[in-house]
Amino acid sequence: MDARKLGTTDVEVSAIGLGCWQFSQGKGMTGRMWSVLDQGTMDAIVDAALTGGVSWFDTAQAYGNGASERALSTALQHRGVEPGTVVVATKWLPIAKPARDIARTIGTRIACLQPYPIDLFQVHMPGSLSSIPAQMREMAALVRAGKVRAVGVSNFSAKQMAQAAAALRDEGLTLASNQVRINLLDRRVESNGVLAAAQGLGVTLIAYSPLAQGILTGRYHDDPALARALPWSRRSRLSPSSRFLTPEGLARTAPLIAELRAVGEAHGASLAQVALAWLVTRYGNTVVAIPGASRPEQAAATAAAMDLLLTEAEIAHIDTVSAAVARR
Ligand SMILES: NC(=O)c1ccc[n+]([C@@H]2O[C@H](COP(=O)([O-])OP(=O)(O)OC[C@H]3O[C@@H](n4cnc5c(N)ncnc54)[C@H](OP(=O)(O)O)[C@@H]3O)[C@@H](O)[C@H]2O)c1
Repeated sequence: MDARKLGTTDVEVSAIGLGCWQFSQGKGMTGRMWSVLDQGTMDAIVDAALTGGVSWFDTAQAYGNGASERALSTALQHRGVEPGTVVVATKWLPIAKPARDIARTIGTRIACLQPYPIDLFQVHMPGSLSSIPAQMREMAALVRAGKVRAVGVSNFSAKQMAQAAAALRDEGLTLASNQVRINLLDRRVESNGVLAAAQGLGVTLIAYSPLAQGILTGRYHDDPALARALPWSRRSRLSPSSRFLTPEGLARTAPLIAELRAVGEAHGASLAQVALAWLVTRYGNTVVAIPGASRPEQAAATAAAMDLLLTEAEIAHIDTVSAAVARR
């Protein structure tokens, strides 16, 4: 599968990257969602992703207050990766903070990730005390200062994307990306204007939770006891995937899992690989995906999804079965 540009910037990425929320090591507000991984495991995950052709990594300030960023940098160094040969994306946590916090935090982000430069700096979500134009002016100043290469946002609506893109245009820049939840069980981007806005503005959508946090692997359908054993944070109503983990949710989505299994069997591929191949094909070059992994085999398998070429008929059939059960 060919590399893709983030928006109209010169930042080029593989269709599938590696999400590094799983590297939070139990720290910070959202760190408890995933089991604590040791550095050796994280090294092996990064190694498997790179070996499989993944060229970029997504992390964030919020993922353990720098723990994920530091672990990623350590893993890349252990692998002997030269700075500038992979793409690194991280995010500023804006909740209840003014835009000037962007300039305050960038030094820490750079220190956590060094020696790897920040290719994409994203506003993690709406929620800053400052306006979107004010946030974009601060981001643009970082690009001009050579501290980051490109600017992205995350969890932004179509209207917020347009505001961010217009503000960056005033600064002579473009909006590279909007990182949003897209998977076969959550296709709201098709109806809420985000996909249309991305296509109209020339902005890449970075699909997070592309496996619906593991549900699209079929593991919880095969063994519902695994769903009951998940940590509360992944089962609670606060987690967008939790509705699919109930007995009713699993029953309702079973036809989709059966379809992924049938297509996978025809190609000698896993359900996760079919779900990812669908995601990075169905929306053309507009969508790239960043599956997370807690084991090296998972990272190897998701990277290999880039080699899986589904037929148009398969894409269309999966689409129809998914449309009947997904959030839209
Ligand atoms: N911008 C945002 O607000 C936001 C929000 C969420 C996520 N993200 C980003 O998106 C990335 C991915 O999202 P996510 O972690 O929420 O969900 P995801 O990628 O849909 O699911 C990741 C989980 O799926 C399971 N998995 C992955 N590959 C597998 C394979 N080949 N076979 C079987 N199971 C497999 C693993 O679960 P187990 O660990 O349970 O084995 C893994 O931790 C994150 O790491 C983060 O970088 C961003």
